[in-house]
Amino acid sequence: MTDERGEVVLRVVPRPSDINSNGHIFGGWVLSQMDIAGGIVAGRIARGAVATVAIEGMKFISPMLLGDLVSVYAREERRGRTSVAIRIDAVATRGGMQQQVELTQGIFTFVALDETMRPRPLPPSGS
Ligand SMILES: CC(C)(COP(=O)(O)OP(=O)(O)OC[C@H]1O[C@@H](n2cnc3c(N)ncnc32)[C@H](O)[C@@H]1OP(=O)(O)O)[C@@H](O)C(=O)NCCC(=O)NCCS
Repeated sequence: MTDERGEVVLRVVPRPSDINSNGHIFGGWVLSQMDIAGGIVAGRIARGAVATVAIEGMKFISPMLLGDLVSVYAREERRGRTSVAIRIDAVATRGGMQQQVELTQGIFTFVALDETMRPRPLPPSGS
């Protein structure tokens, strides 16, 4: 599924063990899902191994609740020589009314790696 946020790369449901003492889902849990989704898209663009080098503009917009179905969207934001920035949005589908709630957003930058784990030029886009 694709919209202005990009493609849905993951759909996940948090477990009771992912809850903090406020009854919300740990921020680290959703960050991890975002990193996984971004890594999938970046790895496809890089056609190989990538590593997360930076996260910019990370925003936790609304609390995430047990029972939320979390969709993680990803969209290429910009491409450099060895790095690609992926905009990631996490959105919850909540309750019987299928309400959509914006949870988080951020821009994750991934670097393409060679076999020595050093930066490697990205393949030309569209090739
Ligand atoms: C990723 C890594 C190999 C990059 O090595 P480096 O020596 O910093 O590489 P460079 O300085 O040549 O930068 C490589 C690219 O990253 C970009 N970059 C580096 N730091 C950045 C930052 N803070 N924000 C955005 N982009 C950044 C550079 O602009 C460059 O992109 P470009 O070639 O498209 O212009 C190294 O930092 C590393 O191994 N980091 C740990 C990665 C990791 O363990 N991640 C978590 C688990 S996946």
